Amino acid sequence: MFMKDKKGLIVGVANNRSIAYGIAKACKEQGAQIGLTFLNETLEKRVRPIAQELDCPQYVYELDVSKPEHFKTLANNLKIDFGGLDFVVHSVAFAPKDALEGDFLNTSKEAFTTTMQISVYSLIELVGSLQSLLNSGASILTLSYLGSVKYVTNYNVMGVAKAALESSVRYLAYDLGKRNIRVNAISAGPIKTLAASGISDFNIMLKWNEANAPLRENVSVDQVGNSAMYLLSDLSSGVTGEIHYVDCGYNIMGMCATEQIDGKLTPRFDLLK
Ligand SMILES: NC(=O)c1ccc[n+]([C@@H]2O[C@H](COP(=O)([O-])OP(=O)(O)OC[C@H]3O[C@@H](n4cnc5c(N)ncnc54)[C@H](O)[C@@H]3O)[C@@H](O)[C@H]2O)c1
Repeated sequence: MFMKDKKGLIVGVANNRSIAYGIAKACKEQGAQIGLTFLNETLEKRVRPIAQELDCPQYVYELDVSKPEHFKTLANNLKIDFGGLDFVVHSVAFAPKDALEGDFLNTSKEAFTTTMQISVYSLIELVGSLQSLLNSGASILTLSYLGSVKYVTNYNVMGVAKAALESSVRYLAYDLGKRNIRVNAISAGPIKTLAASGISDFNIMLKWNEANAPLRENVSVDQVGNSAMYLLSDLSSGVTGEIHYVDCGYNIMGMCATEQIDGKLTPRFDLLK
């Protein structure tokens, strides 16, 4: 039990396809006591049964990161319910749908600001509002994507937000290092979730990654969950400020994956039906 006696908050479960659900499950399996948040009443109906399944029905809190008053109430409630926290997961992102298609050049100031506030500043605000509750040795984790460092069609403003998120991880890691608190990110490969459905032509991204990743498949929320559990537990006590890729190896590729077909080098993507 790598997370026995650990208490933590997981932000970002929308349903049982969420990456945060995979993380919550992996932490629970290793003995952690977890709390979950929900964005609004609609998602509360999905999150409550998951809290039941994960044995934490009494630790479910409302958090819309665009509402500063929610952070305050959350911190007060967590103080009463948990006392201190050993880990926090930030698995939140949002961009207006029309900013996730077409030319990045057309991104409006409003879409840019909203995306940065919900997807990046929320990490800083979450950590800031919970800092007095964080125990020495605590671990914080957020979720990123390769679109932060490489061009990915349609990812647009979210790529810029993920670049800022990854940079925030490094600055927070330095600030909190003096209290022996770690901050890391997992850069996950594409997974079909509610958030991903906002990205135009997401199915092509999935197929492309499957064809080109060294492991020749797409990553699952369970695989991301297990890697997250390592980063949230003391197993990774010497690791902070890292962006850890959990993408079946896709990020190492400098050229598309190929196969020899009838003596001819053929892109694997062309071989997928
Ligand atoms: N699915 C992928 O392909 C993929 C790949 C790499 C990284 N990620 C990242 O993983 C994280 C989780 O996304 P997911 O794919 O599991 O999708 P998801 O839709 O299951 O999770 C996104 C979560 O963000 C929450 N959220 C959105 N706006 C919010 C707000 N104002 N306040 C509070 N919560 C809010 C939603 O309620 C939801 O729980 C995101 O940061 C996403 O960018 C996803």
